[in-house]
Amino acid sequence: MSLLDIITSRRSVSAKDMSEPGPTSEQLQTLLQAAHRVPDHGKLGPWRFVIFQGAARADFSRELAAIYREENPEATDKLLQFQAELLTRAPLVIAVISTAGPHVKISEWEQVLSAGAACQNLLLAAHTMGFGAQWLTEWYGYNKKVHALLNMEDHHRIAGFIYVGSYREKPEERVRPSLQERITYWNS
Ligand SMILES: Cc1cc2nc3c(=O)[nH]c(=O)nc-3n(C[C@H](O)[C@H](O)[C@H](O)COP(=O)(O)O)c2cc1C
Repeated sequence: MSLLDIITSRRSVSAKDMSEPGPTSEQLQTLLQAAHRVPDHGKLGPWRFVIFQGAARADFSRELAAIYREENPEATDKLLQFQAELLTRAPLVIAVISTAGPHVKISEWEQVLSAGAACQNLLLAAHTMGFGAQWLTEWYGYNKKVHALLNMEDHHRIAGFIYVGSYREKPEERVRPSLQERITYWNS
């Protein structure tokens, strides 16, 4: 597939439809290199990657379930069990953390965009390798206790949890917002 085919054929695979095997260690390094190879004004590298594989996925998910229970005391056992298995839906999850902050020259906005580009590169690299991937934030992407668990500083943000795994059925294309309505040709 050409790069353009890869970009235009990419579709998210739902985390719940993912299975083993996940990327090998070598493939994981390639994914991370792709994520790291993004436009980055000022060479600040304003992103961090936290890798969840194997037992670490269930360990972290149990912590998520405990936070969820604290904040939703009425949650049913079924719902709590779902939280306790969140990251086990895929063999590999990569949390992309934006570390964007005030800088004398480079705007914070540009740093945030760079972290978004890292997420997109992960999706495209995973698709190129034949894996399914999904960019999720869900509730735990915005939760301060979860941020503390990830040793994030106050100004850090979760850009996304990128779920990666094998999948059986190619997802159908979805209806997309009209491209034409989003294009203007500037006439001077
Ligand atoms: C920053 C960001 C966060 C997202 N978080 C979620 C989420 O929490 N739950 C969800 O169902 N989809 C989420 N999505 C959307 C999916 O990743 C996906 O883009 C969408 O389902 C469309 O599928 P497509 O990628 O095949 O176009 C998020 C997308 C972005 C860009």
